[in-house]
Amino acid sequence: MALIVWRKEFETGVAEVDHEHQELVELINQLHAQLGGETSKETVSRFLGEVFARISAHFALEETVMRKHKYDEYQAHKAEHEALLDQIRDIVDDYEAGAYADADQALATTVRDWFVNHFKTKDARLHRLLGV
Ligand SMILES: [Fe+2]
Ligand SMILES: [Fe+2]
Repeated sequence: MALIVWRKEFETGVAEVDHEHQELVELINQLHAQLGGETSKETVSRFLGEVFARISAHFALEETVMRKHKYDEYQAHKAEHEALLDQIRDIVDDYEAGAYADADQALATTVRDWFVNHFKTKDARLHRLLGV
């Protein structure tokens, strides 16, 4: 089963952006599917690392667009991106410290909640205003 199931709530209302976000969710699911049944700590750590990299690449792209357009809410938007990356880092650290039997589920819950909030508010405004 997919780690993160796409929900209507994730939609920003901008078709291309929703498509891009869907691809991001799909990538996370694909990486998760590669975990399989017997997973070593190294494999899970690698998975978490790759998810972090994909998400931060997506954010970096948005931030470049915002800077280019001198977007008025750049700082607040970027701050939310950084807060999510911090949350993912915490999950990675806690996992390394042995806090989770299922770090993937902790990640899924965090990312899912965050998608509902950030996509719907910050990303929707950004992409509607800039038309990108
Ligand atoms: Fe986004
Ligand atoms: Fe964003």
